[in-house]
Amino acid sequence: MSQYANYALDSDSYDTTRIPVGLDTILACLARTATPLSQQVLLEAGCGTGNYLHALHPHVGSLSGIDFSEGMLTQARRKLDEQVGLTCGSILDMAFEDESFDGITCNQVIHHLEEGPSAADDPSAWEPSQFPNMTQFTREAWRVLKPGGAFVINATTHDQFRDGYWWAALIPTAVSRLVCRMPDFDQLQQILREAGFEIESVEPELHGILQGSSYLDPEGPLKEAWRAGDSTWSLVTETELADAQHRVEQMNSEGTIQAWLDEREQYRSKIGQTTFICARK
Ligand SMILES: C[S@@+](CC[C@H](N)C(=O)[O-])C[C@H]1O[C@@H](n2cnc3c(N)ncnc32)[C@H](O)[C@@H]1O
Repeated sequence: MSQYANYALDSDSYDTTRIPVGLDTILACLARTATPLSQQVLLEAGCGTGNYLHALHPHVGSLSGIDFSEGMLTQARRKLDEQVGLTCGSILDMAFEDESFDGITCNQVIHHLEEGPSAADDPSAWEPSQFPNMTQFTREAWRVLKPGGAFVINATTHDQFRDGYWWAALIPTAVSRLVCRMPDFDQLQQILREAGFEIESVEPELHGILQGSSYLDPEGPLKEAWRAGDSTWSLVTETELADAQHRVEQMNSEGTIQAWLDEREQYRSKIGQTTFICARK
């Protein structure tokens, strides 16, 4: 299992650069389940600091979250009331009974599941795997979901990794490493179908920006806390980081950074940063 991002350290600053996007899409998928939304028992797999749990809480019957980072769960406990059950554990082997949940949502987690090239490795020498951990997680989701339940995955496609984030063009080798860790959406749908799920919808989110108002900070890459809000930065080499930072400093001092951001925004606004798959058991 991959742990390339250090969420024990990043949990303190995570909420300064992240907001929950696509809530309407998640709720619409959950609402198509026979059980009324207000009575549904929902699980967020890889709940992190609980931003999605907090936003979904008023809409559903009861909520649980699981994450393997105690640091992230500590932040989640601060914002959630005691009725939200939080479990420290891996989503690959969940300590829940079969058919416990009406719905499962998993937001921005699956690129963390597989081993892949680290910052020290040459990404071209790494062969993409068959994504065994994604397969195992999908089987676990199937097991703990009730028949007819919804499994909503919010993840970033390979193209969105490259063009949905303005800094991706500054650190292309780190982005390649990240892409190696993640099935593309055709593979993802195949893994879901093989586990028994029916795919109801695949929708890119074109408006939401995961980093909220901090996204277009023209000096963001120079700040450690800002970089901690996106795990791609954990895959840069020292040289790639230094080169990217030099370029950002140069564009800021020459007054060209805004034009660069505007150009990158044209790409993001067409492709989005994330895509939602709604799968049904
Ligand atoms: C980018 S954060 C997303 C957190 C939250 N879902 C959100 O969108 O704000 C990824 C989270 O996945 C968790 N994670 C990664 N792999 C995991 C695994 N195998 N089991 C449990 N949690 C995992 C990390 O600890 C981290 O909190």
